[in-house]
Amino acid sequence: MPEDLEEAILELKRERNAIILAHYYQEDELQDLADVVGDSLKLAQAAQEADCEVIAFCGVHFMAETAKILNPDKPVVIPDLEAGCSLADGCPADEFRVFVDRHPGARVLSYINCSAEVKAMSDLICTSSNAVKMVEHFKGEPLIFAPDRHLARFVAKEAGRDDLIVWQGACIVHELFSAKGLAKLKVQHPEAEVLAHPECDQAVLDQADFIASTTGIIKRAVETPDTLSIIATEEGVFHSILQQAPGKQLVQAPGLDESCSCNHCPFMRLNTVEKLYLALRDLEPQVFVPEAVRAKALRPIEKMLELS
Ligand code: 13P
Ligand code: SF4
Repeated sequence: MPEDLEEAILELKRERNAIILAHYYQEDELQDLADVVGDSLKLAQAAQEADCEVIAFCGVHFMAETAKILNPDKPVVIPDLEAGCSLADGCPADEFRVFVDRHPGARVLSYINCSAEVKAMSDLICTSSNAVKMVEHFKGEPLIFAPDRHLARFVAKEAGRDDLIVWQGACIVHELFSAKGLAKLKVQHPEAEVLAHPECDQAVLDQADFIASTTGIIKRAVETPDTLSIIATEEGVFHSILQQAPGKQLVQAPGLDESCSCNHCPFMRLNTVEKLYLALRDLEPQVFVPEAVRAKALRPIEKMLELS
């Protein structure tokens, strides 16, 4: 490994005419190296607009796959190919096909946290920042929402839809925040605002003052005059909040058991600066999507980007 890894990565980036995209859940050093840091929507938009020869995607597999679907002719590398997602993994394409077929006539709205094959079976894709708007697009039509049941419950309430047909998946990170622990923490910090991601369980969301995507949480924490915020999402968002509001006090919402590091996504955290260096040097591991799947998955992604 080169002694100055950051310099070596920037050098490789120039040589390869590459762009580095990173999700807010990546370790601080990866966020600092990125050309664009964002939530799932911003990263999909950045991938669509990418003017480069190589995309290095610091995030999880479905995010890099979305970038590849939008850029079939560019190599898309990911530091660790094992960086999956419990939501995507919990919705296998063959089982989803059966689920969709059981509801003839229903339209399909899928959260971007799913595989390319599931996207290919969908009419429209959404992210946590535009899910309500995307549900509203299907006014009056029977609608399947997959694969996150917590986000589904949140958007159903916001959009006034109690008839969504929901795939019962969940995020192993957000499901582990403890409602009981949060209630105790609120007693210790009655002045704090609780900011939560909609992938959290209802008992946690019931105690939140503000529910939004990672971008929404960061914006709110930076803008609110409150000095202390309790954060119920992955700890990676702290970096961006503290860069923009250095005096801010942030407290992590507690996990179900004290020893769990549920504030870290184990998949996102597989990516490291060392692995990013190797990915840019060797142009692997790359993400590939079979053309037949890609062509079908592209339509609902492009439609979301148009509507966003
Ligand atoms: P965002 O849509 O806020 O980026 O969330 C993605 C995600 O994986 C949350 O766990
Ligand atoms: Fe998937 Fe949850 Fe990790 Fe987000 S935090 S990438 S939803 S496992």
